[in-house]
Amino acid sequence: MKTSFFYANEESELQVYLASKNYQQIVCIADAHTNGFCMPIVKKIFPFLQTTTQIIIPEGEQNKNISTCIYVWHEMEKMQLEKNTLLICVGGGTLSDLAGFVASTYKRGIDTMLIPTTLLSMVDACIGGKTAIDFSGNKNNIGTYHLPIACYLNPIFLHTLPIRILQSGIGEMMKHALLCSTDRWHTYRTLKIEDFYSIEKIRESLVFKNNIVEQDLHDLSLRQSLNFAHSIAHAIESYSLQGSTPLYHGEAVLLGIRHELILSHIIFQLPQFIISDYEQWLQQCFPELHFNYNLADIQSFLQQDKKNRDGYRMSLLKEIGVCETQVRVSEAQLQESFKLL
Ligand SMILES: NC(=O)c1ccc[n+]([C@@H]2O[C@H](COP(=O)([O-])OP(=O)(O)OC[C@H]3O[C@@H](n4cnc5c(N)ncnc54)[C@H](O)[C@@H]3O)[C@@H](O)[C@H]2O)c1
Repeated sequence: MKTSFFYANEESELQVYLASKNYQQIVCIADAHTNGFCMPIVKKIFPFLQTTTQIIIPEGEQNKNISTCIYVWHEMEKMQLEKNTLLICVGGGTLSDLAGFVASTYKRGIDTMLIPTTLLSMVDACIGGKTAIDFSGNKNNIGTYHLPIACYLNPIFLHTLPIRILQSGIGEMMKHALLCSTDRWHTYRTLKIEDFYSIEKIRESLVFKNNIVEQDLHDLSLRQSLNFAHSIAHAIESYSLQGSTPLYHGEAVLLGIRHELILSHIIFQLPQFIISDYEQWLQQCFPELHFNYNLADIQSFLQQDKKNRDGYRMSLLKEIGVCETQVRVSEAQLQESFKLL
């Protein structure tokens, strides 16, 4: 099964597609913010959803847990939802991770459709069917693969996002550009910030990830290239969550790219000018993004990373558009990368 993607102006095609599925019930799920900001827009665009039952959950990563799942399962039971139900999720990656997990386990799996409402969820979290909740202090360590049957992409939802959350989604788009090709990278590093929010660029980034996911849904080989920048990013993000100025995931990815480009230079002689070009772009577009960390700060988080059981393993760039996965990174190489930061 594949996910069908529908974009702004393809609303009637989406409705025909849904009608062909003959769902017995359709239910929407939103969080406290997206219920206020996005549901009214969704109902305006899709009048057939005006009378649909809704489940509302509290917003935020702190609620992406088993207690919220239990609440949603109870609500679904009360509504007597049958197997032939569609759950439409209106929200960012936190909500779609949880809603996808709940849907994949209710009656052994009901269909979902995602309406992503953050930039990050449009270009990343809505694609590829990874669902997750956080458990026992560990992020995303319980989850399933459950591809949504459809996603609806419309940048109209981005207008109400706080600016830092909005811009943080650019991190994943830049990562995709570096993994894609030199041409894509050169185009993206000269874009104005607003250009990233266009449906064309969202679609381009989404299609790049989706092509990879369709070849390796279960993350056994090619999909691991999407981990580029993420080993360091996850460690920085986790470390930042302990302090008073936590980073958003996409912000940590922006810093992770810088760091893993340096490691790519040390290990694969990736040309130095690529690092300089990226630094220059980062300074220009994210002048406020500063976060101090050293190796000791992030080391314990790197070691917790399940990919790093036998030494550090990362996905690094041999050149732009060519990623090697499972690259072994030594302690000495990590230390050297900090000197070059
Ligand atoms: N499954 C995947 O492949 C995948 C990929 C990347 C990230 N993720 C997960 O995604 C989560 C981060 O998601 P995110 O960056 O989309 O943020 P988010 O879903 O946490 O949303 C951030 C905040 O913005 C609010 N919000 C969302 N849309 C809004 C809108 N249009 N207007 C106003 N407020 C809005 C939310 O209520 C929340 O308070 C993390 O939990 C991460 O693990 C999953």
